[in-house]
Amino acid sequence: MQYIYFLCILIQKGVRLMSYLFPNYSRKPFEIVSGQGLLVQDQKGKTYLDFTSGIGVMNLGHHHPAVEVALAKQAGQIWHMPNLYQSQLQEEVAQALAGELDYVSFFCNSGAEANEAAIKLARKYTGRSQLLTFQQSFHGRTYGAMTATGQATIHAGFEPLVPDFIYGEYNDHKALDLVTEQTAAVMVELIQGEGGVIVAERSWIQQLAKRCQAMGVLLIVDEVQTGIGRTGSLFAFEQFGIQPDIFTLAKGLGNGLPVGAMLGKRELASAFGPGSHGTTFGGNKLALAAAKAVLETMGAPGFLATVGEKGEYLRQGINAIQSAKIVAVRGLGLMVGIQLVSEEVLASVTEQLEAKGLLSLRAGKTVLRLLPALTVSEAELQQALALLAEVLV
Ligand SMILES: Cc1ncc(COP(=O)(O)O)c(C=O)c1O
Repeated sequence: MQYIYFLCILIQKGVRLMSYLFPNYSRKPFEIVSGQGLLVQDQKGKTYLDFTSGIGVMNLGHHHPAVEVALAKQAGQIWHMPNLYQSQLQEEVAQALAGELDYVSFFCNSGAEANEAAIKLARKYTGRSQLLTFQQSFHGRTYGAMTATGQATIHAGFEPLVPDFIYGEYNDHKALDLVTEQTAAVMVELIQGEGGVIVAERSWIQQLAKRCQAMGVLLIVDEVQTGIGRTGSLFAFEQFGIQPDIFTLAKGLGNGLPVGAMLGKRELASAFGPGSHGTTFGGNKLALAAAKAVLETMGAPGFLATVGEKGEYLRQGINAIQSAKIVAVRGLGLMVGIQLVSEEVLASVTEQLEAKGLLSLRAGKTVLRLLPALTVSEAELQQALALLAEVLV
């Protein structure tokens, strides 16, 4: 009797007793089935304010009309042709990404793949093998990107890793000494997203860039999470006064369509000649149609400036909450981290927010991460701040 009661509770909560999926994700017992802007609904009709953007993907919000129209138009023409043929769409998106700068693009399907391409390009171009990355960084789950990730828990059980990766302390001047004539490239996030929303010190990044230049080392900036408007400029590096040799994108680029990109300075192009690297789906027409619409929308006058203002408003609102649970508030633009006092407090806060209808993310062990769509309204920011105040006091 007790067993049947327990079973009914599980079913009511939406917990599956048997799944045909690998258990590599710990999933919530509900499914989001529709969305518009920042509002999403689960299968039972409960509405949530989405401050995850699908982990920094839906930067223009769910169901964005410009992306939807572009997708529908492309779907009516052709969905996919391989990279054996010219692609006007790839050329247009690559040109939009480069802007005034002289970068060339390689399109792929995810952040890990973009970083994988960057690692391969750096080794091939420099003829060196050593890669320097940083503690608590996150660069993806494929072998190269996972090895670049400076987190032992992510490496555990998958050894041997790719050889010749070393790890420095983030924001530590001593790490500059690790950049030598043996180093092919340094890979760095300007804000460590998964690692806990830790912002790079501007002077440290500038010195790192200088040191790379002096040693003939390529600087790879991983903009997978910080890119595509998230921090208030199209790419975060624009705010740090540096110009990477290579940078990588994914997440927000397709606003929900899987697309990644690696951009490199034009002089690196010779190392990626025909046959050197590739992927079947990279530059897929549907994904690139979405990316083009995203970049056109973000290019509208004033759009990116609003991101900085909204981020400032959100951080000020959080700072105004008097709470013993908050240790620090960090971030740039609409990439916001609230460091809390413990893992237990973080778990309870995210659960309470979810129950009250606000979806949020975790980063590192104790950081509550907020990544609302860049289109978030003032009313939605106020609503989120009111819910945060309720659970943090
Ligand atoms: C900075 C950074 N790089 C790379 C990745 C990996 O991207 P993907 O999951 O698309 O492979 C992520 C994902 O969270 C990321 O935040």
